[in-house]
Amino acid sequence: MKHVWGAAALAVSLFAAAPSWAETVSLFCSSSGAEYELCKNGAEAWAKKTGNEVKINKMPAAWDEALPLYQQLLSAQSQDADVLLLDVVWIGLLQNHLLDLSAVLPKEDIAANFPSTVAAGTVNGKFVAQPWYTDTGLMFYRRDLLEKYKKPVPKTWAEFTETAKAVQDGERAAGNKDMWGFAWQGKSYEGLTCDAIEWVSSFDGGTIVDDKGNITIDNAGAAAALKQAHGWVNTISPQGVLNYDEESSRSVFEAGNAVFLRNWAYVWGTSQGKDQPLVGKVGVAALPVGKDGAKSSGCMGTAHLGISKYTKHKDAAVSLLSFMAGKDEQKRRAIEGAYNPTIASLYDDADVLKALPFLKDAQTAFADSVARPSAVTGSGYNRVSQAFYKAVHGVLAGEEQPEAALKALAADLETIKKRGKW
Ligand code: GLC
Repeated sequence: MKHVWGAAALAVSLFAAAPSWAETVSLFCSSSGAEYELCKNGAEAWAKKTGNEVKINKMPAAWDEALPLYQQLLSAQSQDADVLLLDVVWIGLLQNHLLDLSAVLPKEDIAANFPSTVAAGTVNGKFVAQPWYTDTGLMFYRRDLLEKYKKPVPKTWAEFTETAKAVQDGERAAGNKDMWGFAWQGKSYEGLTCDAIEWVSSFDGGTIVDDKGNITIDNAGAAAALKQAHGWVNTISPQGVLNYDEESSRSVFEAGNAVFLRNWAYVWGTSQGKDQPLVGKVGVAALPVGKDGAKSSGCMGTAHLGISKYTKHKDAAVSLLSFMAGKDEQKRRAIEGAYNPTIASLYDDADVLKALPFLKDAQTAFADSVARPSAVTGSGYNRVSQAFYKAVHGVLAGEEQPEAALKALAADLETIKKRGKW
């Protein structure tokens, strides 16, 4: 596992010539899209302002590769982890290693965030994860191509599948042999849990485990959703989609080789960045639904910042976290990178609204986003998600029929539950 952090090799120290009283705080930054630069620039600004140093550890772009490494560092009470970037689904798992931030952050700095994000950062009465940006699964589409083929933005998955095929076939006939209808995340990992919970939930198939902890995944809606997704492989999506994560699917779309892309909001920032080939050609919408009138179900993907309770630099770590998750920095990240603020008042900020036009176009996606069952399954979430994405991957690859796979999955989940995992 060492190779992923490559600890010293990947760590970048900012402000090497700091004064003797300065403290060095380690921070984890994601490496998807432009996020590393954004994070590094923010940390640099804090270092400059306070005279302290930051040691940045670059996380793998696929976040679930980072979780075991966090678990390792935190169990060892390592000093290489002060301020941590936390996926919303890790908060329950890591809670015992995290500082209670309600004791160190001003109340108003916490209350400035959307209540749902503050609730997600609170476990067993302890507030351990300050919201940093909010996210949901979105549908990016080639606006120019839908116009060319006179197709509306599809509302249901059936309509979507037809449109993706028609535009793909038209573009191939016109000479782009590499064109595909739909790029998404089909690799066997946490990202597939997100994609698949979106399909399942939009077919009224629930969220694997319901709010009370009951296992609900073995149902007809879920089977129909998986059957449909299996049908995309080799028709509107390449076989290789079974190995795509966020970044590989994004590169297919941004190279001009996909009509639709399911991804997170950051793709607005990357695809509409200066000199990008798709500037002005991309639209963003809520994901389609299983049947007319059903709710769109983007997966909720909020990111938080937390502090290791083993830190020896508590004050400096709190200062860095407050700066990174503060209003000015959230505003800069929204404008420069399309990261959606969690601070409610920034949604009235004209500069933010101008930079993120999709907030208006895809409003329902944010309003109706669906949470993975991490709160109710607590420390068992990882096992639940792994069992789910492996079963889904088997169906996508044609190794299993949806009904049989879901039945076996429900039985596996019962075992996990019985072992006292939730
Ligand atoms: C994004 C989301 C995160 C999710 C991950 C899956 O990083 O923010 O919540 O777990 O994608 O790959």
